Amino acid sequence: MTAENTDHQWIADRRNSDSLKWTQAQKADIVPMWIADMDFQCAEPILQALHERIDHGVFGYTATPDTTVQAVCDWHKTQHNWQIAPEWIVWTPGLVTALNVICRAFAAPDDQVLTFTPIYPPFMSAPKLSDRKLLRCPLKNDGGRYTIDFDALTSVLTERVRILLLCSPHNPVGRVWNKDELLQLAQLCLERNILLCSDEIHCDLVLDQGTPHIPTATLSGDIAAQTITLMSPAKTFNIPGLNCGFAIISNEKLRQQYKDTADGIVPWINTMGYTACQAAFTKGQPWRMEILAYLRENHRILHESINAIDGLSMGRVEATFLAWIDTRELNLPDPETFFKDAGVGMIGGAVFGEPGFVRLNFACSREHLLLAIERIQKAVNSL
Ligand SMILES: Cc1ncc(COP(=O)(O)O)c(C=O)c1O
Repeated sequence: MTAENTDHQWIADRRNSDSLKWTQAQKADIVPMWIADMDFQCAEPILQALHERIDHGVFGYTATPDTTVQAVCDWHKTQHNWQIAPEWIVWTPGLVTALNVICRAFAAPDDQVLTFTPIYPPFMSAPKLSDRKLLRCPLKNDGGRYTIDFDALTSVLTERVRILLLCSPHNPVGRVWNKDELLQLAQLCLERNILLCSDEIHCDLVLDQGTPHIPTATLSGDIAAQTITLMSPAKTFNIPGLNCGFAIISNEKLRQQYKDTADGIVPWINTMGYTACQAAFTKGQPWRMEILAYLRENHRILHESINAIDGLSMGRVEATFLAWIDTRELNLPDPETFFKDAGVGMIGGAVFGEPGFVRLNFACSREHLLLAIERIQKAVNSL
């Protein structure tokens, strides 16, 4: 692969850096567009804060800094008009961990956990790993734009459904759920006493400026009391390797139940995670705006190019840096391997519960994006 384009100083060469995304790819000249992190160096203030922490030179057990808690509260107030009380925050080193804790805490072994497919795979593995039953409700695909099929939902719901795992915005279909959709969903959860777990890790990566993210728990007091929100600076600020996320739980009883289940099993947050989280939420905004502009242009180019290739299509990505590409017209037995052999590393739709699709991560340099598009086009032309 050729050298990086360095128009933007935050575009990083990640080869030989033990990156999970790049390690496998660089051996075979693959443009890696699979695991969901960015090929961008994080914001300068985050780097500075981490350097200062390292210079102190002590890495003992860490208390949760009040300043980090305040940073989380301030961020939600300014970005989402959501006033969070400090005691609602329960820290977790990962949101996948939290999904698993929630399945164990709020459903009994034979209870069902509902989710909408296609979906980020841990939403389907968490119930199974916790010995709970997974119930899938497929989203409706209207020409590449996915919606919640409320008729299908009411027909699959049973008395045993205890938890809904909602991804908002949605990975992989890129939807920002609107107020009507969220209200309808939350109402159903209230009527049937289903805990609503709203994973909002992608909420600060909205590309479509006409579709603002609405935190589920802000819809009403009753809904907040039945909702656990999962959040983290990891995706937005490209710090997922620092393992710092949190659940926001306003209902004290639910919060205690969550904590009791996690206690002794889930590790504490590390010093570097808290440090990066605080710097991200207090000083990361200029970087985020720059990255969003770059991602919007990557998305524009990708959307136009993919839809111009016969046999491929993709819908608009309202949020996230992940494209969901429909390859079904090509009738490929294994789309992931087909494109990997052509030098583009994407994740096949089967693991998300919808074969025939691939997920492409476009949080990369423009140069790599164009190279990937060229390879995809060439591979399709060769059929
Ligand atoms: C919806 C969603 N939740 C959680 C995660 C992972 O979170 P964590 O690394 O904190 O476990 C991802 C990563 O892609 C994601 O897309």
